[in-house]
Formats: sequence, C-alpha cells, structure tokens
Amino acid sequence: MGISEAKKGWQENTVAKNLAKAPERKADFRTTSDIEMERCFTPDFELPGYEDTLGFPGHYPFTRGVQPTMYRGRFWTMRQYAGFGTAKESNERYKYLLQAGQTGLSVAFDLPTQMGYDSDAGMSRGEVGKVGVAIDSLADMEVLFDGIPLDKVSTSMTINSTAAILLAMYIAVAEKQGVSSDKISGTIQNDILKEYMARGTYIYPPKPSMRIITDIFAYCKDHVPKWNTISISGYHIREAGSSAVQEVAFTLADGIAYVDAAIKAGLDVDEFAPRLAFFFNAHNNLLEEVAKFRAARRMWAKIMKERFKAKNPKSLMLRFHTQTAGCTLTAQQPDNNIMRVTIQALAAVLGGTQSLHTNSRDEALALPTEDSVRIALRTQQVIAYESGVADSIDPLAGSFLVESLTDQIEKAAFDYIDKIDSLGGAVEAISQGFQQKEIQDSAFAYQRAIETDDLIIVGVNKFSIQEPPPAGLLKVKEEVEIFQKKALAEVKTKRDNDKVKAALKKLEETAKGTDNLMPHILEAVKAYATLGEIADVFREVFGKHRETVVL
Ligand code: 3HC
Repeated sequence: MGISEAKKGWQENTVAKNLAKAPERKADFRTTSDIEMERCFTPDFELPGYEDTLGFPGHYPFTRGVQPTMYRGRFWTMRQYAGFGTAKESNERYKYLLQAGQTGLSVAFDLPTQMGYDSDAGMSRGEVGKVGVAIDSLADMEVLFDGIPLDKVSTSMTINSTAAILLAMYIAVAEKQGVSSDKISGTIQNDILKEYMARGTYIYPPKPSMRIITDIFAYCKDHVPKWNTISISGYHIREAGSSAVQEVAFTLADGIAYVDAAIKAGLDVDEFAPRLAFFFNAHNNLLEEVAKFRAARRMWAKIMKERFKAKNPKSLMLRFHTQTAGCTLTAQQPDNNIMRVTIQALAAVLGGTQSLHTNSRDEALALPTEDSVRIALRTQQVIAYESGVADSIDPLAGSFLVESLTDQIEKAAFDYIDKIDSLGGAVEAISQGFQQKEIQDSAFAYQRAIETDDLIIVGVNKFSIQEPPPAGLLKVKEEVEIFQKKALAEVKTKRDNDKVKAALKKLEETAKGTDNLMPHILEAVKAYATLGEIADVFREVFGKHRETVVL
C-alpha cells in the first residue's frame, strides 16, 4: 500500500476514533502566513519501507509518537519534580506549582525516605528534608496531599527501594479522601536496576527487590489499573556520564529484565506491559536527543512485539517522562541555564515526550526558589503555546540528519543489548559491573573533552566572568529534623501499637513466603506503622545489597 493510501486509512480509522473521545485543542492549526500545519506531514513521493520504519503516530512501530494526535489532543504533562523539608512545606510548593499552571505532580523524597530510614534513625542525621520531603508515616502523606484532589491530579513519586510503602500510603490517603484505588493515576519510579547501576538508593539484593516490583505489577493490575507501576529510567544513567546510545540501551535492557521477571512471576505480558513507563534525560545536543527518543520508541515496540509476543498495542508503546539534564547546569552565570533548559526541553517535545520536568536555573547551587521554578515552568508553557512545535506531530521526521541519527542510535543500542544478553541479561551484567564500566569510560571521555576545551561549556571554559556569589538561594530550614522527630514520636504515641505489631508480624511471615506483599504493606501503613519499621522487616528477611566494585 502506498503512503497516501495508508495515511488515508490512518486518518479515517485511528485518528477519527481518537477524536471521538479526545478532540484536538483547536479546530484548525495554521502558521502566521495562514499555511496549514498538517497533523502529520509525510513525503509526497513513495518511500519504500516508510510504514515499517516511520509509520504514523499511534501506529506500530510508534517512531512518530504514541498518540494518534499527540500534542494537538493534549500537551505533554508539565510535571515539576519538587519536594523538600516537611510535608507542609512541600504541600505549599505543590499548590504554588499547580496554581502556576503545572498539570501533574512529581514528589521528591529525602534520602532517609528513599533508603528506608525514619527521620529519627541515626542514618538520617543531617539528611532529613534535605533533597526531598521527609515522609515517616501515613500522617506525613496526609499532610503532603492535603487539599489536593487525588482523583483529579496524577502524581509521580521518585521512589525505588521503598516504592511499595509509599504507593500503599498514597492509596490510603486517597481512600481517606473518598477516592478508591481504581480511580487514582500516577507513577512510582520503582526501578531498582538503575539504582544498582547508577543512582545508589538500593536496600535489598536483586532477587527480593525484583519480587517486590513484580508484586506491585500484580497488585496494581487488579486494584490500581490507572497506575504506571514503574518508570524505567535512563535519566540517572545519563547523569552518571553515559552516552545517548548507552542511555537507551541500558534502560531498555533493564526493561527487558523487568518484563522477564514479571512473566517468570506468572503474569501475562499484556496484563502488565501497558502500565510500564519510562524516564529519559534531555541533554544538550538537540538533534541527537530527538533521534534518541524516536529510536527508543521504535526499539521498545520491536522488543515487545518480537521478543515478548505482546498483542495489545498499548504493550508496545514506550510512554516516557523527560527531565532536562541536571548535569549540564552550571553554577557559573546561572541564568545561562535558562537557555540550556529551553533547548533541552525543546528536544524532549520534538522527540514526543508524554511528561516533562524543566530544571531551574539555580539547581546547580541549591533547591529552586519560587522565581526559578516559575521560569522553568514558563519555559514549557512558551514552547507549548507560542513556538508552534506542538501543532504538527514529529515535525523533524524526514530530516536526512534526524532519520540517520535515529537509525544509527537504534543499531548501536541493539548491539549493546545483544552484548548484555550474552552476559546473561541486565541483572547479571550489572553484577559483573559491565554497564557501570561503560558509563565510567564515557564519563571520563566527556570530562576530558571539557578539560581540553574540545567541548565548550559557556561560562565555564569559555566566556567566563568574575561574578559575585549568587544571593537569595533557598536553604532548607535546620529545624526540619527536630520537627520531624517530634511529629514521629506523636504518631507512635497516638497509634494502636498492638495493631502495628500484628501488622508487621504478618508482613514478616508474608515476606518469608511467596504471597503478594502489597495487601499487608497497606494494612501496616493504615495502622501507622512507619516507613522505617516496614523497611526493617524486609531488611531482616531479605538482607541488604552490597555493591559490585568496578575497577
Ligand atoms: N489523545 C488522547 N488521549 C491522550 C492524548 C491524546 N493526544 N495524550 C494523552 N492522552 C491520554 C493518555 O492516554 C492518558 O490516559 P490513560 O492513562 O487512560 O492512557 C492520559 O491522557 C494522560 O496522558 P499520559 O499518560 O501520556 O501522561 P501522564 O503524565 O499521565 O503519564 C507517563 C506520563 C510518562 C506515562 C508517566 O509514567 C509519568 O507521569 N511519569 C513521570 C515520571 C516522573 O515525573 N519522574 C520524575 C523523576 S525525578 C528523578 O528521578 C530525578 C531525580 O533523581 C534527580
């Protein structure tokens, strides 16, 4: 079938069906010269293999986008990663961001919460409320979402080893708002493999960690159907210094490991795959980043169709969140970061992201101030409403450069995946330090390029100036730790401690068995068992992971 005939079929079936349930935001999209911005531009000549390599938005292999109308039907979710200090302070920031026009929530937790320690634990000293919000129990989660309707807002939680506990708390808070678990939508990052590889907030060894993750898949398919159960992340792999090719390859290899683990746990691939989500970095090289996103979408579609024989089209779609590259932010001339973030955000949009966080100009120095985070959000809004790039789908398609980069990134990434397969898969390769070594080599090369001025960082190794130390940075109040400890002591006094004890006992027995952990974690959090108490039960039963040292 020729392209124009295929396009007609796409318009009359896929697009028409989509418009029936979700009309586009405007009746007509035109330029200032009154030229029509077609929904999806295609070649006006025959291009052999077009349908297999590019196709149409919302059609396999999804190179051009996962939705038939993409941003003409709905802009990407503007979802700023935020959280610091106490639940009250973070709740105020969320309300500020929602009022400023952001359309999704994204919770940053402090390190003790991410590492399974309560604020009063020795390991928490000096870290309470520092890089994210301190959450010790359901009481804190109730404050965190106070006045935020959980049936109307989707919430992402950047939480991995303790993801099951925070998801249980979120379900419990929604229930207290009268919202049943089948009505809430959001995402937990829940991606332990990249923690071993690049980020470091792991607790338990791989085997029990994968069990917790597949328990979440199984529980959510029955009880929380609108929840994205994992956000398979390349962001931190890139932040650790990987190349774009390695970011895609190592992330999709992790995805393959999660799908394998879920199938081994007895789940049918089409039962859980539609709710797998991804998370990538948007780095400085705009054209490479656009090609990277397009290559990743096409690769995942092929992997799910050919390797896992998934049948549901939603199982083949790579839906992803993007964060602009934190590692490119400079402390020098911080306002320069506004332009970097704009270019990176544009790459994410031209690459078809579903959700986007734009970094603030001062984040190389401190947590973002309200002014800085507003500028970061406005960057997205200007791209969405003023630049025109959201009016036609996958606008760089057909560019000789972009299509060639897309093909080359795909090929190189598949070569890496073949190598990882030969090592026994992502979990095995990580235990051998393969991905870590590759990332270190790339990071070293990047650093060398800057040191030798091969790579210019404006304001750092060129166009630098003498500048006063920046004023008005946001400092997390010291007394957060004292406040948190007091609040935690109150929770422990007020709760029914016999109920907590029984719930933790039940959880321990389940952890020693093979039943799904989620219902028992939910019981424990509803009894106001703390995050640390629950994480300690798992430390007892599963043990703690020790890192592979890569020389
Ligand atoms: N036509 C019709 N429907 C459309 C549409 C269109 N054009 N566009 C979107 N929709 C629908 C979608 O199908 C969806 O409905 P469904 O759930 O019933 O399918 C709904 O509108 C919402 O759209 P999306 O699912 O595309 O957008 P979301 O924002 O809800 O979800 C996601 C995006 C990527 C799938 C999700 O996983 C997500 O939000 N991820 C965010 C992850 C995140 O924020 N992570 C932050 C990490 S911070 C970090 O780790 C860094 C730190 O360590 C420094």
